[in-house]
Amino acid sequence: MAIILGIESSCDESAAALIGSDRSILAHRLAGQEDAHRPYGGVVPEIAARAHVQILTPLIAAALKDAGMTLDDVDAVAATAGPGLIGGVMVGLVTAKALAMAAGKPLIAVNHLEGHALSPRLADASLEFPYLLLLVSGGHCQILRVDGVGQYRRLATTIDDAAGEAFDKTAKILGLGYPGGPKVEALAKTGDAKAVPLPRPLLGSAEPHFSFAGLKSAVLRAAQSGNYRPEDIAASFQAAVVDCLVDRLEKALSASVGEGTKPRTLVVAGGVAANGAIRSALEALAARHDMGFVAPPLWLCTDNAAMIGWAGAERFALGLTDPLDIAARPRWPLDPLAETARGAGVKA
Ligand code: KG4
Ligand code: ZN
Repeated sequence: MAIILGIESSCDESAAALIGSDRSILAHRLAGQEDAHRPYGGVVPEIAARAHVQILTPLIAAALKDAGMTLDDVDAVAATAGPGLIGGVMVGLVTAKALAMAAGKPLIAVNHLEGHALSPRLADASLEFPYLLLLVSGGHCQILRVDGVGQYRRLATTIDDAAGEAFDKTAKILGLGYPGGPKVEALAKTGDAKAVPLPRPLLGSAEPHFSFAGLKSAVLRAAQSGNYRPEDIAASFQAAVVDCLVDRLEKALSASVGEGTKPRTLVVAGGVAANGAIRSALEALAARHDMGFVAPPLWLCTDNAAMIGWAGAERFALGLTDPLDIAARPRWPLDPLAETARGAGVKA
C-alpha cells in the first residue's frame, strides 16, 4: 500500500492528511480560518496566505503524529497546485516541495477540482468510471463527464456566479454572516419555499449552462422590499437553486452525455454538495433515470486534504508525479478543451 501526504491551502482551510492507496484515512486535520476572515464578510486572500504559513507546518506534524508516522513512511507528497487564491496555493505547494525534497519523495501537484472530482471514490470503493459529476463549490458549478483520472469532459459551467457564491451572497444579504451555505440551509429549514417568487435562470434553456447572478439580484430585491421573512427568502432561494441544478442535469442527461459508455452513476461533489436539500433532489433525479447516486460524506464535500491525498494516490498509482519546479496556477480548468461558455471567461 502506498501512503500519500495530502496538503490543501487553496482557500481558507489549511489541511493535511495521510491517505492509503487502500482508501484508509490514516490521519486528517483541518484548521479553518473563519475568525480571521469573519470581520470582512468573506475570505481576504492576503490574510489567508499568511495564516497558511503559520498553520500548515505544525498541522502536517500533527497529522504525521496522529498516524504514528514520520516522513520516511510516506511514499509521495501531494499538494493542491491550483486553482485557487494564488498566495495560499503557493504556500501549500512550496511546503510540499520542501518536504518532498528533504525526504527524497516524489511530488504530486494536484488540481483542487480533481480532488473534489475523485473524492467520491475515496468514500465509495464501488464507484467506477465513467460517472456524471455535478461539481458545485464556492468558485465552480460544472457538470462533467469523468472517464478516468485526468480524463474530464465539461458539459456545462456557470456563465456568471457559482452556486456556492450564490449561497454566500444570499447569506450576506440576509445578514447571516460567513461562511454562508450552511447558515442559509439551516434558516431555510424553518421557512416556506413557496413564499417568495424568485427566478430560475436558464430553466428549460437549450444551452446546457448555469446562471445564478439574476437569482442573487432577485434575493437582494426581495430582502430590500421588507415584504418577506428571512427564513422564507432562504427557503425560496434554496428551492430555486435546487430547481436550476436539477433542470440542467436533466438537460445533460437528455443529451448524449459525451462520447463512450453512458455513465450509470450520478455523483455530486464540492462544498455545496453538503446541502441536504440538494442531495435529496439529486438522489431522486438519479432514481428517475435509473442511475446510481453517490455523494461523499459531508466533511469530504467541503475543502479538506483527504481528497487531495486521495487524488495524489490515484495519480501515484498511474505513475503521474511532477517536477519540483512545477508552478502554482490561479486558474486550472479540468477540461482545457471545453469551449468558453457565454460570459464565463473568468470562472470557467
Ligand atoms: O468546495 P468548497 O469547500 O470550497 C471551494 O473550493 O469553493 O466549497 C465552499 C462553498 C461555499 O460557497 C459554501 O457556502 C458552500 O460551499 N457550502 C454550502 C453548504 N456547505 C458549504 N452551500 C450550501 N449548503 C451547505 N450546507
Ligand atoms: Zn473546493
